[in-house]
Amino acid sequence: MDSDHSKYLVGNYASPSIDLVKGKGAWVWDSKNKKYLDFTSGIAVTNIGHCHEHWVKKTFSQAQEMVHCSNLFSIPEQVRLAKRMVENIAPGKMLFCNSGAEANEALIKFSRLVGKKREPHRHKLLVAENGFHGRTMGALSATSSPKYRNGFEPLLEGFSFAPLNDLHAFEKKIDQETIGIMVESIQGEGGIKVARDDFLLGLQELCREKNLLFLLDEVQAGIGRTGEFLGFQKSGIEPDAVAIAKGLGGGFPIGGVWIAEKWVDIFTPGSHGTTFGGSPLACSAANAVLDVLEAENLIETAREKGNILLKGLNELHSSHPKIISEVRGRGLMLALVCHQAPNKIIQNFREEGLLVVGAAENAIRFLPPLNISKEEIGEALAICSKVLKNFKPDSSK
Ligand SMILES: Cc1ncc(COP(=O)(O)O)c(C=O)c1O
Repeated sequence: MDSDHSKYLVGNYASPSIDLVKGKGAWVWDSKNKKYLDFTSGIAVTNIGHCHEHWVKKTFSQAQEMVHCSNLFSIPEQVRLAKRMVENIAPGKMLFCNSGAEANEALIKFSRLVGKKREPHRHKLLVAENGFHGRTMGALSATSSPKYRNGFEPLLEGFSFAPLNDLHAFEKKIDQETIGIMVESIQGEGGIKVARDDFLLGLQELCREKNLLFLLDEVQAGIGRTGEFLGFQKSGIEPDAVAIAKGLGGGFPIGGVWIAEKWVDIFTPGSHGTTFGGSPLACSAANAVLDVLEAENLIETAREKGNILLKGLNELHSSHPKIISEVRGRGLMLALVCHQAPNKIIQNFREEGLLVVGAAENAIRFLPPLNISKEEIGEALAICSKVLKNFKPDSSK
């Protein structure tokens, strides 16, 4: 690793052991030209693979026309993207920003505005424990884990937490000040924990009964990754607003919030905004992602490919029950859950040429691009098998 890395970069990330300089499809190369199969997708971002030809062409040609002009002006690529998002989600409108945390900030501000307008004493959001919503102060306040919160208190007031998939616990936590409920359809950083369909449907019923907003954070599970455009769509629920980011730009930063028809007048001129959000270049990149998802039928194939990967991971679980405790997830958002911290296994996968990403609860996330081939899935599984065969679990733990 370049010694200037730690000399000039703030140490808020663990020291990386490899550098990456090039990517194509599911493959990336380091500066010594060693290649790796990328099952991180830049943490669920490059869902159409690295440097997809169509994405590169569209993004390049937009860069030659106009990169940025601000929301003082109407941006045709932004309008086109908003229309396509609404068509893929449900009747409503879009608001664009630059990241997942920002999308959740907008969701939180949306819930505050709804509270102020409807019942001013209501402002609290009830959120799933073990979720992750981002690092800005609002999004962090909606994130229960001390690992992220420690050192940053006092955080924003107005958040309470209940365990995922425990409807009764959620119901018990609702009080006079609650304005809404916010969950991920699959907790990503939390270790690929799937919100059950009956839980999501139950939350929806609870929200309708108690007149609460139902908010979904689809930042990680969105944009085709789970075999639906957005992860919650499998459950057939109809949320009031949804946060989206990561995969939307295919690597170019963009986030967004979809707001249901009923609530589209909540934000009024001046009530929220961002300089960069929804720029011509970001929206053009996102439109190119949607083009590729459609043209290559990637959402449907994510289900098939996911099943192939899931089968392979289940076989690894059966062959190595002392190392692996469980396999979780859906589509191409899957995890091998280990009995012990999986850092060494992740490092061994890397050395053998497979990049994966850790998560809470000893999970190893497998997040390949949606256009991964069956052969590439086979190669990744062969690396896992080789590493796990040679891996000696630490018996002292
Ligand atoms: C579900 C979820 N929400 C929000 C975020 C924050 O997104 P960003 O890192 O783009 O701010 C993440 C990032 O991992 C996420 O997984």
